[in-house]
Amino acid sequence: MSREILLMGNWKMNHTICETVDFLKECKKQKLVKLAKDKNITLAIAPTYLSLQVAAKNSNGIHISAQDCHYMDHGAYTSNISVPMLKEIGVNWSLVGHSERRAYEGDSSETCNKKIKALVSNGFKVVYCVGETLDQFEQNQTKDVIKQQVTVGLDGLTKEEVSNIIIAYEPVWSIGTGKNASKEIAQDICSYIRGLLTESYQDLAQNTLILYGGSVKPENIHDYLTESDVDGALVGGASLKAESFKALIENI
Ligand code: PGA
Repeated sequence: MSREILLMGNWKMNHTICETVDFLKECKKQKLVKLAKDKNITLAIAPTYLSLQVAAKNSNGIHISAQDCHYMDHGAYTSNISVPMLKEIGVNWSLVGHSERRAYEGDSSETCNKKIKALVSNGFKVVYCVGETLDQFEQNQTKDVIKQQVTVGLDGLTKEEVSNIIIAYEPVWSIGTGKNASKEIAQDICSYIRGLLTESYQDLAQNTLILYGGSVKPENIHDYLTESDVDGALVGGASLKAESFKALIENI
């Protein structure tokens, strides 16, 4: 079974609008989409809300994703952005459940489930992030945590809806710490996630993209992609500069 590879940058709270445009201009100049396409790699970036509109206009084949959204279409939810608002500016991808949202903004898997439902019913691709904390890792609870996050996050979704979901396994202890998980750990958990998906959605699980994320760099990305259940990477810090983004593609 050969699945495409997805390389996705999560920019978090980095890059102004001008910096976003500069990045995309550089990607165009260096023909990164073509470079990626030749290697069966799809590219996506998730800039801040403010940069999304201009990014969507200058994307040149790179998928533009929100980092989050609200599950309601509109209403009294100060500071939030809804799915129709994203749609209006030509954005049809979103991350959901990133560990920084779970840790600092209180997103539970139940909340993620509502967001995912709102997104997929509007035709969005969703990159649903799951992962255990250091404490949970040390207590050997990784698979229990992942199972809870996956089953609650995807609860009630049809097979067709799940076909628009990508899962990103990001151990919290590896995010932004330089302590990337070994490729064996990444493979073990990505394959565990595929097993969970197989239980509920049978053959669809073979087509679902499952990414690893957490301190992925040009120097270590290749290792992950040699594992059979790791279909790509969700990259924070190393996705911010076009040069480094290019090096990630080249090293896959
Ligand atoms: P990092 O972030 O690559 O900087 O560790 C990954 C992420 O949070 O998605």
